[in-house]
Amino acid sequence: MRRIKWGIMGTGTIASKFATALNSMDHIELEGVASRDLGRAQDFAKRFHFHKAYGSYEELAEDPSIDVIYIATPHPEHKGNARLCIKNKKSVLCEKPFTLNKEESQYLIALAKEHEVFLMEAMWTKFLPVTAMVKQWIDEKKIGKVKYLRASFGFQTKFDEKHRLFDPQKAGGALLDVGIYPLAYAIHMLGSLPEQVVSNAVIGRSMVDEQNVISLRFKEGILADLSSAITAETGNEALIVGDQGKILVPYFWMAEKAQRYSLDGELLETFSVPFLANGYEYEAEEVNKCIREGRLESDIHTLSDTLNIITLMDQIREQWGLKYPQELN
Ligand SMILES: NC(=O)c1ccc[n+]([C@@H]2O[C@H](COP(=O)([O-])OP(=O)(O)OC[C@H]3O[C@@H](n4cnc5c(N)ncnc54)[C@H](OP(=O)(O)O)[C@@H]3O)[C@@H](O)[C@H]2O)c1
Repeated sequence: MRRIKWGIMGTGTIASKFATALNSMDHIELEGVASRDLGRAQDFAKRFHFHKAYGSYEELAEDPSIDVIYIATPHPEHKGNARLCIKNKKSVLCEKPFTLNKEESQYLIALAKEHEVFLMEAMWTKFLPVTAMVKQWIDEKKIGKVKYLRASFGFQTKFDEKHRLFDPQKAGGALLDVGIYPLAYAIHMLGSLPEQVVSNAVIGRSMVDEQNVISLRFKEGILADLSSAITAETGNEALIVGDQGKILVPYFWMAEKAQRYSLDGELLETFSVPFLANGYEYEAEEVNKCIREGRLESDIHTLSDTLNIITLMDQIREQWGLKYPQELN
């Protein structure tokens, strides 16, 4: 089997988690890691057993031995970093949110088509075995006709204007960081786009959304009730209710377990799959598979899915009047 040669761009929190997942996988090479600082790249390479360390992102993108680059930098960097990789004919797995807005996503998608390279947003939730089973239960009508979905991803963290979550220059706020998960989940599970979107947000002192609620109406009378926060614990589960039963998924974006209940609350079925590593191995395996098959996109999380989600997030931010500094020029 062809060994896929991975590179990582950035050495922060998620880069470390992803590198841990790669370390658990077969038929790949941990080819190289790039940082804006060579010392940081060397430390990371040593910690996670990468063959090479580069002191600039350009060196990684230009290395002919690399097949695919995982972009693990803050949101506003994604467009420029992905452009660099694509122009060097590298396949790309780019962290979520794919870009700041629809315009940037359209640009990257067109560029990847032009250069005929694989491109995917790292929406890891969609590749988890539990997510696949929940979708199967819904499609097999195990809970009857779906009427309602509720999903929430919120945590309480102390205000720190220097942290990327609160920094408008880093496109901070709950929606782009964690609110993307309930949105992507609802669209995936309900299999269509909403006909109506109504939302509300608390814009904090650094002018990013600290909390938000989003209400979606889908065709055939299905409602979704979504929320996310960086200053409040919001429950962190998904509940999908049909006319014959319901499904509960604790920590749905990183789910290792889902439970199916009757409408009166009797537990009928539990599906549980502990991660092989830490959950990021499933999206990485999808990338390996697509590259080996010569595909330019995944059919589990397509580029249209990415575009639909970012378009919705643009629409939601417009309802709040929230623009990032990069969008004001
Ligand atoms: N899938 C998930 O579960 C998940 C979880 C967390 C975050 N994320 C996403 O991953 C991205 C990174 O998040 P993170 O929490 O890993 O961030 P982080 O800890 O701040 O790390 C970001 C890394 O990006 C590099 N970088 C490049 N340009 C930068 C700049 N202008 N400012 C700061 N760092 C810069 C830095 O590496 P060097 O200095 O070495 O170049 C830094 O270590 C975000 O888009 C976030 O939404 C995804």
